[in-house]
Amino acid sequence: MGKINVFDTTLRDGEQSAGVNLNFEEKLEIARQLERLNVDIIEAGFPASSPGDFRSVKAIADTIKGCSVTGLSRSVQKDIDAAWEALKGGVEPRLHVFIATSPIHMKHKLKKTPDEVVETAVQSVRYAARYFPHIQWSAEDACRSDLDFLVRIIKEVIDAGASVINIPDTVGYITPSEIGEIFSYLRNNVPNIDKAILSTHCHDDLGMAVANSLSAVEHGAGQVECTINGIGERAGNASLEEIAVALKIRGDYYNAETRLKLNEIKRTSSLVSKLTGMVVPGNKAIVGANAFAHESGIHQDGVLKEKTTYEIITPELVGVTSNRMVLGKHSGRHAFKEKVKELGYNVKEEELNRLFAAFKDLADKKKEVTEDDIFALLTEERVAS
Ligand code: KIV
Ligand code: ZN
Repeated sequence: MGKINVFDTTLRDGEQSAGVNLNFEEKLEIARQLERLNVDIIEAGFPASSPGDFRSVKAIADTIKGCSVTGLSRSVQKDIDAAWEALKGGVEPRLHVFIATSPIHMKHKLKKTPDEVVETAVQSVRYAARYFPHIQWSAEDACRSDLDFLVRIIKEVIDAGASVINIPDTVGYITPSEIGEIFSYLRNNVPNIDKAILSTHCHDDLGMAVANSLSAVEHGAGQVECTINGIGERAGNASLEEIAVALKIRGDYYNAETRLKLNEIKRTSSLVSKLTGMVVPGNKAIVGANAFAHESGIHQDGVLKEKTTYEIITPELVGVTSNRMVLGKHSGRHAFKEKVKELGYNVKEEELNRLFAAFKDLADKKKEVTEDDIFALLTEERVAS
């Protein structure tokens, strides 16, 4: 199986979510949890962007020893200098330097010609190579860039010392088959591509970030960039937990694996949600409150007979203690009987019939019937009989 490096950017791109502002202690706490989750690389921030970011990136690089810590930098010497000062105490100091390569960005934002962009990119990587043992270079807006221009600039930055080449879909524009073609094209046309790892970094504007990242893996990406709960700029980034669990559950298809400790996923998701204030929707894959909840009677009956009827992921895999049978108006007798047993009651068939009828009456009036409600029904039944 191919090894996929997981590059977590919760603390950099994730923190760029509107309304999110983590303080120093919160960032350190998240970094420690990411280390427990065993990600390969933590992008801790953008050291030149503010004194606060510099301080937290430095503290994270100095503290975290179980994985590499990186920081973002524009292609200018003062950013690279600041990044080195912040990152040099880490176990594998790594720079993440970027420049935009799409015609729209080069013309309107950078106001540079393609030749000038190549020159700036090469100079920045050469300059960074004086300090950093590992350099990741990103082509911002790569997925809207000319492919032959990408081939040219990637060849040059690899020659200058970059060992990871990141292909971001900065604006969440690409589709799974198109990103697959881009990765295949680069694999087949950049002459020195074997000297570098190709990386994918997808945004979710059209809701395809995870599908695009997985397609990139199928077509030769050796690194995925993602965030916990998919938080990030605008509609967010590809969500780490969805990619990681898809690779695990469909290992037969992707033939690729990560080194993540998947049973830390739920805890990491809850921590990031609590500290960022970004609520995880109930129906979010893997980490939503309903991800392992079965409500309909047919599903509950199936799961009670054999879990794999309706569960492709065991809750324990991602650190959720058990599946949740939600008792509501769609629940069947089998699930109701199990819940009564779980609450410590041994009821006869006749009594169960009466209780089940009372439960169905109540379920018609309430969204979810809680354990307290069932206790109340049991108590009424015992008092009345
Ligand atoms: O989305 C993007 O292009 C980025 C780069 C800075 C890597 O976040
Ligand atoms: Zn991004």
